[in-house]
Amino acid sequence: MASKQSDLVQRNRAQSKRAQEVIARCQQLALFSEDELTTRRTFLSPPMQQCHRQLTRWMEPLGVQVRLDAVGNVRGFYPGTYSPRLIVGSHLDTIPDAGAYDGVLGVLLALTLLEALEGRKLPFGIEIVGFSEEEGVRFQTPFIGSRALVGRLDNELLNREDKNGITLCQAIQQFGLDPNQIPCAALSNDTLGYIEFHIEQGPILEELGYALGIVEAIVGQSRLEFTFTGRANHGGTTPMHLRHDAMAAAAQWITEVERAAIAVPGAVGTVGTLEAKPGVSNVIAGEVHLTLDVRHRSDEIRSQIVAQLIRKAEEISEHRRLRVRHSVLLSQQAVPMNGFLIDEIQLAIEKTGCVPHRMLSGAGHDAMILAEKVPAAMVFLRTPGGVSHHPAESVTEGDVEKAIECGLHLLDQLAASPVFLKRMVRA
Ligand code: GLV
Ligand code: MN
Ligand code: MN
Repeated sequence: MASKQSDLVQRNRAQSKRAQEVIARCQQLALFSEDELTTRRTFLSPPMQQCHRQLTRWMEPLGVQVRLDAVGNVRGFYPGTYSPRLIVGSHLDTIPDAGAYDGVLGVLLALTLLEALEGRKLPFGIEIVGFSEEEGVRFQTPFIGSRALVGRLDNELLNREDKNGITLCQAIQQFGLDPNQIPCAALSNDTLGYIEFHIEQGPILEELGYALGIVEAIVGQSRLEFTFTGRANHGGTTPMHLRHDAMAAAAQWITEVERAAIAVPGAVGTVGTLEAKPGVSNVIAGEVHLTLDVRHRSDEIRSQIVAQLIRKAEEISEHRRLRVRHSVLLSQQAVPMNGFLIDEIQLAIEKTGCVPHRMLSGAGHDAMILAEKVPAAMVFLRTPGGVSHHPAESVTEGDVEKAIECGLHLLDQLAASPVFLKRMVRA
């Protein structure tokens, strides 16, 4: 009895040390940044290379075979006693002025689960994937890393340019990778599923007082860019009635975006970037370029909102005698997570003593892309203050401990599940 209790104390100590280490490692990777004082690590930027090196240093001593695929995803394989694999991962890229946990936390939790196995082999292998691009910052297009795994990285996407005119294909070459090898990044045929741990990035779990959540579905998202073109002219001499002011048109349209999203329960609409040309205080803007992000759990409603906002942009432009053009950068449908994995995660969370709260994800995740090809599911960790996409983003050590415990239960459950293992072949 006494020895059982001391085993438990020791296990708890080890788990708490592991949680502290996950947090310290997230903070360490946050220092690999394109900016001096804040974290920004976009697709195939130089600090991404530092991040890859550090991850490799952590993975290799665990017997993990590490490689970089042709779009810069880190792929670490820990073999099992049979050949199929379970993928556990998340993304390594960040937005500008980012927190330390969005994405990276899921990769480091995967690594910690392997450490906690202490060399024990499971019947399936585990592939840790650190996706190269999920946020869509550099090419205004998210999920580049995970799209390569499901074979959805087409020529149109490879020819998209970043703000310096570098195409996605050139960015891959400049990083020392070979775009011709992209097909080899595809999921291996023996992939059993995909699990992603991620911070919730919202206030729901905290409000309910729960440490962990289970994602039932990820809402769909549309991303578009718009350009209003008017006529640049002198801001001091041009009377108001003779202007073709692209900035005023854009401003009017932005309030329409807000109005349209407020009018539909569950919808969100964001104009997150705006660039005016020539961008001078005493010159009427001749051109304004901006982006739109619209999300809703129903794909039909999301499409209706987008169509309504395109019409509005045209009406405003016509009324003000301007031109507007738009292009669709992303139309990603809502994706349900896998029912079997959801139930297994529920059980694993219950075993940790936490309440398994089922919820939607308003943020996009690589899991929604992987779900096209393999059973996919996500575990959310409570986000203090609901603050994310911000340097103040955080997690608590206690919640990370619970996530590790949940992950270990989940691996053991899957290793013992005839339903999960039914596709297995001996290695
Ligand atoms: C990813 O963070 C998103 O924009 O949902
Ligand atoms: Mn993320
Ligand atoms: Mn994010």
